[in-house]
Order: sequence, then C-alpha cells, then structure tokens
Amino acid sequence: MTPLQPGSTIGILGGGQLGRMLALAAARLGFDVAILTPEEDSPAGRVAARTLVADYTDEAALAELAKICGVVTYEFENVPAAAVRKLTALGCPVAPGERALAVAQDRVQEKSFLNSVGVPTVAFASAEDPEGVRAAAAKVGAPALMKTRREGYDGKGQRWVEHVADAPRIFEELGGRPVILEAPAAFVRELSVIAARGRNGETAVYPLAENHHESGILRRSLAPARAPAAVGAQAERIAVQILTKLDYVGVVGVELFELEDGRLLVNEIAPRVHNTGHWTQDGCEVDQFEQHIRAVAGWPLGPTHPIAEVDMLNLLGPEAHGWARLAAEPETRIHLYGKREAKPGRKMGHVNRVRPLPGRR
Ligand SMILES: Nc1ncnc2c1ncn2[C@@H]1O[C@H](COP(=O)(O)OP(=O)(O)O)[C@@H](O)[C@H]1O
Ligand SMILES: [Mg+2]
Repeated sequence: MTPLQPGSTIGILGGGQLGRMLALAAARLGFDVAILTPEEDSPAGRVAARTLVADYTDEAALAELAKICGVVTYEFENVPAAAVRKLTALGCPVAPGERALAVAQDRVQEKSFLNSVGVPTVAFASAEDPEGVRAAAAKVGAPALMKTRREGYDGKGQRWVEHVADAPRIFEELGGRPVILEAPAAFVRELSVIAARGRNGETAVYPLAENHHESGILRRSLAPARAPAAVGAQAERIAVQILTKLDYVGVVGVELFELEDGRLLVNEIAPRVHNTGHWTQDGCEVDQFEQHIRAVAGWPLGPTHPIAEVDMLNLLGPEAHGWARLAAEPETRIHLYGKREAKPGRKMGHVNRVRPLPGRR
C-alpha cells in the first residue's frame, strides 16, 4: 500500500473513547475520519468528519465505508470478524488484519498462538461443556481462574475456582459458554508494553508501564516503569515476536505478568490502542494514537522514547466531575471523553500527571 495521502478518509469501527482519541490524532495528520458505530451520539462520532450509525454487519454501511475510506481500523476487539471480511472483500484494506483479530478475540487461540511462537503464558485448558470442564479443572488444578473464551473485558466474565469440584457450577454461572481455565500467575507486578508495526515491517516499542487494577478495571498506570534493563529487553522481544508472527499492522497492547525471578508471562493481547498506553499522550513525542494512524496509513513510525514520567489515572464515573480541581494542577493534563452520563465505574476520562524523567530534574 502506498502511504495514504492527507485528505484521505480513515474508517474506524467503534465509537468509544479510543476511537475518539484516534480520530483526533488522525485529524492532526490531515485525515478525515469516518466512524461506524451502532451508538447515536458516540464519543468518537462527535469529533469525526462523518459518522455512520448502523450495526457493524450492516451491508450498506460497510459498502459506504469501503467506498469512502483508504483504510479501516477498529478501536475494540469484539467487532464481528464478518465486518472485517466484508470490508476486505470490497477491496478496502483493514488493519490490524483478520488473523490478529481472531487471535485476540478468543483467549484459547490467543494463548495457543503465543505458546506456538515461544512466548510464555500461564498453563491453561479449554472446555465447552460440564464434562470438559471437569477434565480441564482436573488438569489445571485449583485454584484456577475460569474466563469466558470470548467477549470478556474489565474483569467481566471471569471467576476464581477454589476447588476443582466447584468448576461445573461456576461454568454454568458464567453462562455455560466456552471457557478457558488458567493456572494462577504468581506475579509481583502487572506491566504492559505498547508497540507498533508499520506496513513495511518496521517496529517501534514504547517503554513498559506498571499497571494497577481495582475491581477488574484499570485504575493507574505508571510509566516508564522502573524495571531492570533485562525485563525491558524481554518485553521488547515479546512484542516484536507477536507483531512479526501476526504480520501485524498498527498498535498492539500486550498485558504482562512480571514474576518474582524477572520472567515475563503474557496475559493478553489487545489488537488496538490500549488504556495502559494513554501515558504516551504526555510522555512521548508521538503517542500511541498517532502511532496507530501512522502505521495503518503506511506512514513512517514515530519515536517512542520517553520525554517525561507519567502517572496516568483513570477518571471513573463521577470522578470526572472533579475536572475544575484537576485543571488547576500545573502538572496535570486532562483528557475527557465527552460521555454524557457519569455512570459508576464508567471510564469518563483520564489524567496524566507529568514529572521530569528521573535524572533530569
Ligand atoms: N491467570 C491469572 N492469574 C492471576 N491473575 C490473573 C490471571 N488472569 C487474569 N488475572 C487478573 O485479572 C485481570 C483481568 O484479566 P484479563 O485476562 O486481563 O481480562 P480482561 O479482558 O477483563 O482485562 C488481570 O489484569 C489480572 O489482574
Ligand atoms: Mg486485561
């Protein structure tokens, strides 16, 4: 693909905050953005040149998108694979491609892929009926974490199994859908790495972030994480291996468990920009959103070295009402998503608190 010219249109499937921040970055590079979302009045739709309000599988909407867009991307991994296939069949490039999406949509495929390319994960087993669940639980042992194979996010669709005998009941409580059973990761920290791969195969990796969750939702990320150089190098190898083996184009978020001995396991892959990469907006010269747009548009990738230390805090629900106080803090950069209703736990925005890098104070 020749680089997409400024003035071209980039399509985004999904209308949430990630789509909004991608659209803002695309606009800065001179692109128009068209959003496809089933939601009227979406956060992304309100900053885009065009919004098509329709289901992701709506034939007419996909045909229109394919007609006007030079490339289409997505802001969440649960877009139907059929939508991506349809766009591709209509001659419209979609990035990241179908393979990356399929791998990231299914926790079993994801871990199988990772292990097949030499990237370590926790031990796991899959099951789709009570019989299979008993066998999987016997294999993995207890405690184990049972997760639905598909469509989980923010800790939803997962439960700890304390005793092997409880597994069939918990399987039913999770809806009787196909599940993965995971051995517990004895991690000392949760880290993540955001990385990108361009159309020409070049890769760019941001420094590690250290992540803290509350009730399954990301609360804070600190970046660059204080970590031994060997841990950083390991993360970089893992990220590049994933990008290369998936023939990936765009930004990927890789969630990691850091073990006591410094080894890293991959928890999951997000085939998109990631909440733990929001720090790059104020901690790097080219943030993850611009990087993703550059990659899918076939532009050169930008630099990923840190220019500041960032403490990223998600603003959940009514916390976003504190914007005036936050705006008065000189070290704080506010990013609000324009969501109308501050429901409890809903990601309404985030702040990046910026400090000079250690050694440069
Ligand atoms: N195998 C595991 N062992 C220990 N903790 C885990 C394991 N898998 C997930 N977790 C914890 O649960 C959180 C959410 O799990 P994750 O698989 O990332 O689901 P989600 O798609 O909801 O983000 C992780 O960030 C981690 O804190
Ligand atoms: Mg996760």
